[in-house]
This record gives sequence, structure tokens and C-alpha cells, in this order.
Amino acid sequence: MNEKDMMELKERISQRINPRRYAHCLRVAEEAQKLAKTWAMDEEKAYLTGLVHDVARDMSSEDFLRIAKLANISIYEDAGSINILHAPVGAYVLNTEFGIDDPEILDAVSKHTVSAPGMSDFAKIIFLADMIEPERSWEGLDYVRELAYCDLDKAMYVSLEMIFHYLRQKKKYIVPTAQSAYEYFRCIVEEKAANQK
Ligand SMILES: [Fe+2]
Ligand SMILES: [Fe+2]
Repeated sequence: MNEKDMMELKERISQRINPRRYAHCLRVAEEAQKLAKTWAMDEEKAYLTGLVHDVARDMSSEDFLRIAKLANISIYEDAGSINILHAPVGAYVLNTEFGIDDPEILDAVSKHTVSAPGMSDFAKIIFLADMIEPERSWEGLDYVRELAYCDLDKAMYVSLEMIFHYLRQKKKYIVPTAQSAYEYFRCIVEEKAANQK
């Protein structure tokens, strides 16, 4: 993407989300680019995906539900927060309104809230960039920051553990896909540890 197209894309994204959120997207883009560099992935694509990942974050619940229905996105009635839909809805918006058709980008955007078992390394770095961008300040996050640059699966595992801990405290529902993703990453981490013995 040339500079002019990138400027235009930034302008369009900034019009759809509030300024605080847009600043978050820029930080996620930069973190994703750094992770891509470390993991020898496409840096420009990582930056772009980070930039657009929250495109649907400020849409209304009505719009989430309308698009979810239209795009056949499963809705978890018990999730306690309809906001998790902003990920798959965002992928739909990027495809239909922004003409982004790169499956890797759309997949990573759609998995950035709930994650998924077997997700690609590219989707992992977007999820993790969103989790560890410099303004986030969860307890224990520095450990995830370290892991994201040396062990993606363990970083995912520890991230999900932290998120679940938070959701349990808030008495919020953990969606089945996130639970399966957690089990998936737990198996990988345990297997790796066993092999290292
Ligand atoms: Fe998000
Ligand atoms: Fe985000």
C-alpha cells in the first residue's frame, strides 16, 4: 500500500471510531509490526491489520446484531457483553465497505476478541498486539509482553488465562470458542514443556 492509500485508510478508520480508540489502533498497529518483524511475517500487513482491527468497536448493539445476522455470525446470548461481536462484525465491515479481501487480515480481525483453537501465527500476533500495546496495564502483563516476543503459544495461553480470571471476577460468561482455544494452547504449552524435559 502506498503512502497516500495508507493516509486515506487512516482517515476513514479515524472517522468510524472515537479518538481514544483510534490512538489505541495506532499503538496496536505499531506493536503488531514489531511482532511481525520478530517472527519474520509481513510487517506492512501486520501494521495494517492492527490499524483496522477495531473498526467496528464503536458501532451500536443494534448494528452488531443486524450485521451478525446478515453475515451468519454466531451470537452468544449469555456472553454478558455484545461487544465481543465487534471482531467478526469488523471483518465483515472491512470486507464489504473497505474492500479488504485478504483472508489472513479478515481472519485475524475476526478472531481478535475470542481467539480460536488452531489460529494462525498471524492471528496470534494481532491478538497479542491488542493485548500488550504499551498503554495497557493489567497485572502480569509484562510477562505476556516478554512471551509475545519469544513464545507465541505460551503468550496466548497466559493471555487467555488472564482474561478468564478477569471474566470470572466480573461473573461474566466465557464463550465456548475461547474455552476451546485455551485448552488448545494449554496442550501445546504442556507438550512443549514435556519435550524439553
Ligand atoms: Fe477489539
Ligand atoms: Fe483493540
